[in-house]
Amino acid sequence: MTQPTVLVTGGAGFIGSHLVEALLADNFLVRVLDNLSTGKRENLPHHPNVELIVGDVADPNVVQRATQHCQAVAHLAAVASVQASVDDPIGTHQSNLVATIQLCEAMRAANVSRIVFASSAAVYGNHGEGQAVDEDTPKAPLTPYAADKLASEYYLDFYRRQHGLDPVIFRFFNIYGPRQDPSSPYSGVISIFTERAQKGLPITVFGDGHQTRDFVFVQDLVAVLMQALKAPRATHQPMNVGWNQATSLNQLLQIIQRVLGHLPTVDYTTPRPGDIRHSRANNERLLTHYRLPTPATDMHEGLRRLLGK
Ligand code: NAD
Ligand code: UD1
Repeated sequence: MTQPTVLVTGGAGFIGSHLVEALLADNFLVRVLDNLSTGKRENLPHHPNVELIVGDVADPNVVQRATQHCQAVAHLAAVASVQASVDDPIGTHQSNLVATIQLCEAMRAANVSRIVFASSAAVYGNHGEGQAVDEDTPKAPLTPYAADKLASEYYLDFYRRQHGLDPVIFRFFNIYGPRQDPSSPYSGVISIFTERAQKGLPITVFGDGHQTRDFVFVQDLVAVLMQALKAPRATHQPMNVGWNQATSLNQLLQIIQRVLGHLPTVDYTTPRPGDIRHSRANNERLLTHYRLPTPATDMHEGLRRLLGK
C-alpha cells in the first residue's frame, strides 16, 4: 500500500521542520512547499521521502501542483513575525491571508479535505494579567498579523461549510525550541535572548519585561499536530495550544541565567507598537480532545534542551 502524502507549507521553517521529522518517523511521505523567505533548506533532513517545492503558497499554479495526490495538509507557511506585519501590512497579507485562500481553492480542486492550520493567540488581543483566555473570548486582533490569522480561520470555516473542507484550527501560543532562527530583529524572543546570552551580547527588552507569554516547547506542539493530521474525525472548533502558564520576560531571563550560569547586560527600551501585554491559554478544550505529553516540557527543561545543557 502506498504511504499517505502530507503537504507541509512552511515546512522549511522552525515549526514546520520539526513536523516534517515527526511525519517521516511515522512513515509518511512529505511534500514541503516553502518560499525560503525565513525557512532554510538545511532545516530539512536528507531523506528519500521528503520532496521540497520552492515556491509561494499565494501562487495558484504552485499550490495546484503541491496539493496533487495529498491526503492532508499542514498549513504553517506565513510571515510569523507580528512586528513584520506592522511594518509591511501589504506584503505580509499575501502570505498570511491570500495564500490561505489560494490553498483552500487548490485543495477543493484536488479533493483534499483535511487541513491543520497554524492560527495564533494573537487573535485575542489584550486581556488582563493572569487571565487565561478560552477560545470563545471575544477576538480583538491588534495587528495585520492577527487580523489575517483570524480572517484565515473564517475562510477555512467558509470552505468547510460550502465545500466540505475538514479544517483543524490551532491557536498556537508562543512556541520555542531548536531551529527557531534568531537572525532577525523580528525573530521569536527566546531565540534572540538565548543566542545573545550565549555570545555575551547585550539583550534588549521592549517595555518593562513584565509582559507575559505562555511558552510551548516545539516538540509538545508537534505531538498535537500529528494527532490532528491522523485523526479520522476532525474537531472543527478552534483550539488553543498553550499550557495555561504565564512567564514574564524578566522571569525568562532569570531562567536563562540559571541554565547558562551567566547573563549579559539587559537594556530596557520602549514597548513595540501593537505588542500584546499578557497572553495565557485556557487549554481545557485541548486537554479534552488530545493526548498531551505529560508533563508538558517546563521552561527550565525546554531551555536546557535548547541550550544543550
Ligand atoms: P518560520 O518563519 O520559521 O516558518 C514559516 C515558514 O513559512 C518559513 O519557512 C517561510 O520561508 C515560509 N513562508 C512564509 N511565507 C511563505 C509563502 N508565501 N509561501 C511559501 N512559504 C512561505 O516561523 P514558525 O515560527 O515556524 O511559524 C510557523 C507558523 O506558525 C506560522 O504560520 C506562524 O504564524 C505560526 N505561529 C507561530 C508561533 C510561534 O510562536 N513561533 C505562534 C503562533 C503561530
Ligand atoms: C509570537 C510569534 C507569533 C505568534 C504569537 C502567538 C514569532 C516571531 N512570533 O509573537 O508568530 O503568533 O507569538 O502568541 O515567533 N521582545 C523583546 N526583545 C526582543 C524580542 C522580543 O523584548 O529582542 C518582546 C516583544 O516585544 C514581546 C515578547 O518579547 O513583548 C514576545 O515577542 P515575540 O517573540 O516577537 O512574540 P509575539 O509578538 O508574542
